[in-house]
Amino acid sequence: MGVRGRFQLLIGAILFLQQTLANDNLRVAYQWSQIDFEFPSEADRANAIASGDYRAENVIPVGLEVYKRRLFLTLPRWKTGIPASLAYININETSSQSPKLRPYPSWNAHRQMAEGEAPEIVSPFRIRADRCGRLWVLDTGIEELLGAAKPLAPTSLLVYDLHNDNLLRRYKFPKDHVKEDSFYANLAVEDSDCDDTYAYAADLGAPGLVVYSWKTQESWRVKHHFFHPDPLSGNYTITGISFQWDDGLFGMALSRPQPDGFSTMFFHPLSSTNEFSVSTKILRNQTLATSGNIYKEFKVLGSRGPNGQAGVAFLDQKTGVIFYALPNLNAVTCWKTSNRAYTIKSLGRVYMSTTDMVFPNDVKVDDESNLWVLSDRLHQYMYGTLNPKDVNFRILTATVKDAIENTACDTKIKPLPDIITNLGDILRPSTTAAPPKSGAQAILISHMALLLTIFIKLIL
Ligand SMILES: *[C@@H]1O[C@H](CO)[C@@H](O)[C@H](O)[C@H]1NC(C)=O
Ligand SMILES: *[C@@H]1O[C@H](CO)[C@@H](O)[C@H](O)[C@H]1NC(C)=O
Ligand SMILES: *[C@@H]1O[C@H](CO)[C@@H](O)[C@H](O)[C@H]1NC(C)=O
Repeated sequence: MGVRGRFQLLIGAILFLQQTLANDNLRVAYQWSQIDFEFPSEADRANAIASGDYRAENVIPVGLEVYKRRLFLTLPRWKTGIPASLAYININETSSQSPKLRPYPSWNAHRQMAEGEAPEIVSPFRIRADRCGRLWVLDTGIEELLGAAKPLAPTSLLVYDLHNDNLLRRYKFPKDHVKEDSFYANLAVEDSDCDDTYAYAADLGAPGLVVYSWKTQESWRVKHHFFHPDPLSGNYTITGISFQWDDGLFGMALSRPQPDGFSTMFFHPLSSTNEFSVSTKILRNQTLATSGNIYKEFKVLGSRGPNGQAGVAFLDQKTGVIFYALPNLNAVTCWKTSNRAYTIKSLGRVYMSTTDMVFPNDVKVDDESNLWVLSDRLHQYMYGTLNPKDVNFRILTATVKDAIENTACDTKIKPLPDIITNLGDILRPSTTAAPPKSGAQAILISHMALLLTIFIKLIL
């Protein structure tokens, strides 16, 4: 066979593979039109509705975490009518696809217990359960975010013991951490040492990073150029709704400890398509991190390309794969940190859908290697109205293995980024979910992959 013939065969094989390999292996585990709660009694529920303490139309989940068999959701106080801003379901006990939520840790934690006193938890956006059994809650302290924006309490880190749900610690951010436009909506926790744990809180409004040491109970605020939004990446169009955001530092993903004992933090501003990294060795050294002499310690990895603005990111430390929520593409994508290239071609498509993944808002991997994604319609709530008859919130899940199978992040496949299903090839959001692959198809795919490798060797 001439080189030309081989080449044509190769092209044919690639086209075949791209059709077969549409991945989208996630399944919808839970979905809601509106969020409801397990009130102590029907009368309590009726009273909460009558008094305006519960207005279902304002309850919008944005943050998610799964620890053991509990799935937690944050429900920020956008407007009035949020009876509890942090709640959970017990995965073991749910028989419905739309279970009612229980307040965490209790109803009282969300109530004003005395005149002029803030509730224990006011309005958190994101939470993190560490491997030491602690739940870290980053509370903005602000209610009616889309209205009067009343600060009831300072931005705080609350840490709960997940074994008994006791509040272990409340750390209020010092005044100099909270600038005029500050807004802390996301956190990451470096938990390789349970006694010497560090929490990182991203300030998207006045771009900066707060580093908190569990051991010394101190924090400091780090500034860097790379925390700033890209002025040309602030234009969003999601399901036909256009809006502009100029949010800075947002997504933070921590690697497992490197040989020097420190993690690498991969990070990006929300309104940016670029990805950056820095060692936590720099961030954790207070003198150095606040010295203004750290510009060169931060690296530029590359760009996700047009519409590649990413919200939350999460790194699965077992596989070294980062999962990204990409609201502008209605997608969750992945990148293998062992991959030296960071381009649109090196990102894998995990799931993309304008129906099931309208606005991916949080992504986590639990300690059993399951990927969890929360998708909502936050933009529609903020700039339009939600239809209470639509499915407005979904939680999708899959094992990490299934989620990355046959994508550019598949750990079994050596990097062949032009052939393996990647984001660059599939920028059209799909509206239908791919049918599940049969075992025979999977075998066929692995055979085709082998054939391709042979073809490539023949050509090169
Ligand atoms: C869920 O079920 C498993 C197995 O039956 C049990 O070990 C575990 O304690 C349960 N977890 C919760 C939170 O109920
Ligand atoms: C923003 O995006 C919309 C939709 O893609 C487009 O029509 C508009 O021209 C863009 N605006 C700017 C300033 O780039
Ligand atoms: C912090 O960084 C400074 C400047 O590089 C260095 O002299 C110091 O030893 C570092 N401290 C620690 C605890 O590593």
